[in-house]
Amino acid sequence: MNIAVAQSGGPTCAINASLVGVFKEALKTPAIDAVFGSINGIEGMIKDELIDLKMVIRSNEDMELLRQTPSTVLGSCRYKLPAADEDDEVYRKIQANLEKHRIQAFFYIGGNDSMDTVDKLSVYLRSVGSDIRVIGIPKTIDNDLPITDHTPGFGSAAKYVAATVQEIIRDSSVYSVDSVTIIEIMGRHAGWLTASTCVLRANDEIAPHLIYLPECDLDADKFLEDVRIMQAKHKAVIVAVSEGVRIPEENRTDIVVDNFGHEYLSGIGKTLEQLVKDRIGCKVRSIELNVMQRCSSHICSKTDIDEAELIGSEGVKRALAGESGKMVYFKRLSDVPYVITVETTDASQVANKEKFFPKKWVNHARNDITPEAVRYFLPLIQGEVKIAMKNGMPVHFKLK
Ligand code: F6P
Repeated sequence: MNIAVAQSGGPTCAINASLVGVFKEALKTPAIDAVFGSINGIEGMIKDELIDLKMVIRSNEDMELLRQTPSTVLGSCRYKLPAADEDDEVYRKIQANLEKHRIQAFFYIGGNDSMDTVDKLSVYLRSVGSDIRVIGIPKTIDNDLPITDHTPGFGSAAKYVAATVQEIIRDSSVYSVDSVTIIEIMGRHAGWLTASTCVLRANDEIAPHLIYLPECDLDADKFLEDVRIMQAKHKAVIVAVSEGVRIPEENRTDIVVDNFGHEYLSGIGKTLEQLVKDRIGCKVRSIELNVMQRCSSHICSKTDIDEAELIGSEGVKRALAGESGKMVYFKRLSDVPYVITVETTDASQVANKEKFFPKKWVNHARNDITPEAVRYFLPLIQGEVKIAMKNGMPVHFKLK
């Protein structure tokens, strides 16, 4: 039998490690012949744009390099399948291409939107009597997938964000004048990544002095009052704000959405910067960490990369055991020592759903994170990958 794998949604540092997990497990499995990579997620399955991965990943060195290369080596998409009972043309194309290449199992590495594809495609294939299996392998820096303890890609993003915020803390405190530095962090409507900056407390940093998540309401007056309170104690105030935070005073006229109806979020940092400029009048700067959060693999978490590979290989085992329409996920058994197992759940339990940061880990004033959350985050950012270097720069795997 042959198998195929694709990557979908926003990139991460660990999504290629999951691809390596699928690939390596396939190499170890005598029943599997070819491993196809679908270009640009499900779009490649529709258009029959597949590559033979054995022709491009040719050695252990290639696999190691790919494991530590950020982004999606096969490209990505934000493609929403229509409901099959309304329009099955695209499903018929996918089925025809799967059958043409004798593909018996399809692995989709992605987030909550991609699990919609896993769910719909598996239901369709079953309904037409096909035994081709479809398995979802989670990823997202947003950490907003239900059921799983955390998502591959999140730990590396959290490690980069915390390390960068720490560097910003050092930079922002050099002058004698009062200042406010606002750091805008990704994560859509869930505050996990912004909240994870609290790990700096484990290394005796006090900042970020204020942490704002989309799960909690904020308005201009509350924000300015919080800043003034912090300014009484700290010359350089550091604010971490999630891209999903909205304040009623914002005037947003340029809303753009993707195929799943998700708004492109960004701009709250600039809005808060303007408020400080107008109403407090001190030195103020906003910094948008932007895509660096999901592609800065030079400081990735070894735990994250190893787990991403593990969950990819587990996905293959589950498909071989006959499962379909499932997503593999992490169950945490303990924080210290950190122990997880890999389980499966119906992809429909995850598709199009979001898991928000727990309110119990937010302080009463809704501007900080409680110490219990540090215990959750710390295991996910542990360990360093020995990054392959050339001419003083990290080396990335590239499709030839
Ligand atoms: O879902 C991951 C993510 O990076 C979000 O944090 C962010 O809002 C979104 O993707 C950006 O989407 P795009 O890559 O389509 O610009």
